[in-house]
Amino acid sequence: MAITEGHTQTRLAETDIDAVMALVAEAGWNQVAEDWRLMAGIGDAVVLRDAGGAVCASALALPYAAGFGWISMVLVAKASRRRGLATHLLADRVAWLKARGAVPILDATELGVPVYEQAGFTGGARLSRWQGVARPGKVRGDLRVAGPSDRAWIGALDAEVFGADRSRLIDDFLSRPGSTGLALDDSGFVIARRGRRATQLGPLVAASEPQAIALLDAALASLDGPVFFDLFDARGALEAHVRALGYERQRGFLRMSLGEMPDFDGNGRAMLIAGPEYG
Ligand SMILES: CC(C)(COP(=O)(O)OP(=O)(O)OC[C@H]1O[C@@H](n2cnc3c(N)ncnc32)[C@H](O)[C@@H]1OP(=O)(O)O)[C@@H](O)C(=O)NCCC(=O)NCCS
Repeated sequence: MAITEGHTQTRLAETDIDAVMALVAEAGWNQVAEDWRLMAGIGDAVVLRDAGGAVCASALALPYAAGFGWISMVLVAKASRRRGLATHLLADRVAWLKARGAVPILDATELGVPVYEQAGFTGGARLSRWQGVARPGKVRGDLRVAGPSDRAWIGALDAEVFGADRSRLIDDFLSRPGSTGLALDDSGFVIARRGRRATQLGPLVAASEPQAIALLDAALASLDGPVFFDLFDARGALEAHVRALGYERQRGFLRMSLGEMPDFDGNGRAMLIAGPEYG
């Protein structure tokens, strides 16, 4: 598909991973190459090349079940911004999802909000990315490390709370070197995975905020180094807890939809999202 100024669009290939990771690094984001492979495998990822053939922009669509899908990794190299590339990619990804009967959803950065508003997206829940440095500590006795036999219920609980089955994503996260899953009473879990800049926590699902605090504390006590996690602003007790631990708010995200926003609250059980690129 040809677009302005000699740009061409192709599907993301394995040979493009270094180039899209350079876009991630320029934006200061936390994804790693495994995230691109996973998302391109579940959904459809595209890149734009400039007239010289260099990758200068990316975007992808993740078709989740139950009538909605995510648009993510909308990245434009600094030198190529304000020429309509993000607007083009957004329209392209919206069309891809709509052709599959999916309402497009995304978690917009502050830079992304104006682009999505112009395309008709409207805002829902607000989230914040929190950052800090975890230090090893004592883990509460009733928490356990999730093993292979826990994956089925973790996938089922995540699906119940998120509204779509993401077992493939959960399995992929838990299978990566350096990942940990922690479980509490078969009713709550948290996953930690390695990121480019920091360990990323999430999803975290729990029956209550006190249970979420126990899971978060355990995850932090099992780590050593920088940590990021994306928390719904509505979870006031959890937010007060992370603030008291010395974690800082790095940036905000606005969950936006083009059509009716599904319920992502999970009866109060959705605490940390998997990441703005995954929902
Ligand atoms: C956000 C981003 C993708 C926009 O890419 P882009 O190709 O420059 O966007 P477009 O040229 O399509 O912009 C479309 C319109 O959105 C608005 N817009 C885009 N960037 C803006 C900015 N920084 N400030 C204010 N308005 C902006 C403008 O109205 C613009 O139209 P105009 O240039 O004719 O005024 C790019 O800045 C980027 O990669 N940022 C870092 C990663 C990121 O935050 N991605 C969004 C993830 S949700």
